Amino acid sequence: MTHAAHAPAHNAELEELLDLDARLGASVLSRAMDDASQALKTEPRTIVDLGAGTGTGTVALANRFSKARVHSIDASVGMLDRLREASAAAGVSENVQAHLADLDGEWIADLPEGIDLAWAALSLHHVGDPALLLRQVFHALRPGGVLVVIEMTGETTYEPADLGTERAGLGDRIVRTLAARGYPVTADWTDALDSTGFAPVNRRKASFWASADTREGSRYLELQLTFNRALLGGGMDSDDLAAVDAAMTTLRTGHSRVAVASGRAIWVAVRPEVSE
Ligand SMILES: C[S@@+](CC[C@H](N)C(=O)[O-])C[C@H]1O[C@@H](n2cnc3c(N)ncnc32)[C@H](O)[C@@H]1O
Repeated sequence: MTHAAHAPAHNAELEELLDLDARLGASVLSRAMDDASQALKTEPRTIVDLGAGTGTGTVALANRFSKARVHSIDASVGMLDRLREASAAAGVSENVQAHLADLDGEWIADLPEGIDLAWAALSLHHVGDPALLLRQVFHALRPGGVLVVIEMTGETTYEPADLGTERAGLGDRIVRTLAARGYPVTADWTDALDSTGFAPVNRRKASFWASADTREGSRYLELQLTFNRALLGGGMDSDDLAAVDAAMTTLRTGHSRVAVASGRAIWVAVRPEVSE
C-alpha cells in the first residue's frame, strides 16, 4: 500500500488496496510474526491488532497463532465489516473479536489484561498521540509481552525505471515527487519505543515486489498509481504526468510489464520482565 490512507480515495478501492498490499506483502507479515514468535517465550494466547483495517494482519495472526484470541481494533465500521468477512472466509472467526474503538480514546477498556502480543501495522502514524498509545500498549502487555510495529520506509523502486513509457527515470521522479509531499508517511519509532521502556527494541527492514505479471500485482499497481496520480499533479511536468497516465492505461489493458518494490520497517519491542 502506498499513501492510500491519505489520498482522496473511494473506500472500497482503499480497502481493496489494503487487502492486496497485505496479500502481496505476505512475506513481510510472515517475517514479522517469526520475529515476534522468537521474542515471545511462549505461544501467545491474547493478541491485539491495533488499527486492524480489512483484517489481513488479524487473519495472518489467527492462522499463525491458532491458540490465541485476536482482538482487532479499528475506528472504521467499513473496515471492521471487511475484517469480519475475511475472518469468516479464512475460517478463523471463532478466534477473532472485532472492536469498534478509537485508539485515541478508551480502546483499552474492552480488552483483557495481560496481552501477549500487540500488532500495529501501518497504523501507529495515524493516531493523534503515538507516545500515549505506546505507553498504553506497554501497560496492557504482560511482562515479556511483545509489540510489533510495521511502517513503510519510503524505499520504492519501479522496474523498468521508465514504467515502460520511454520517459527515462519516471519511477524515481514519481517517488521523489511523492516524498516531497510527505508520502508515504514514514516514521522511525525506535527512540519512542526505547523511551517508553521497551527493551530490547529491534528494527529490521524488509521489502516485497508486486509485478504486473500477475492479476493481483497488476491491480495493485493500477490502484497504487491511481492514488499516487492524485498527488502528483503540479509536482511533475505534463509529459511525465501523461506518461503516468499511459502506464496506468497499459496496466488496465493487461499489457504492462511493470513491477514495484516497496520497503517496510519492522520493530519488535519487548516489555521487560521486570520494569525499571
Ligand atoms: C493504513 S490502514 C492499516 C490497516 C492494517 N493494519 C493493514 O496493515 O493493512 C490504517 C488503519 O488504522 C485505522 N485507524 C486510523 N486511526 C485510527 C484510530 N484513531 N483508532 C482506530 N483505528 C484507526 C484506519 O481505520 C485503518 O483501518
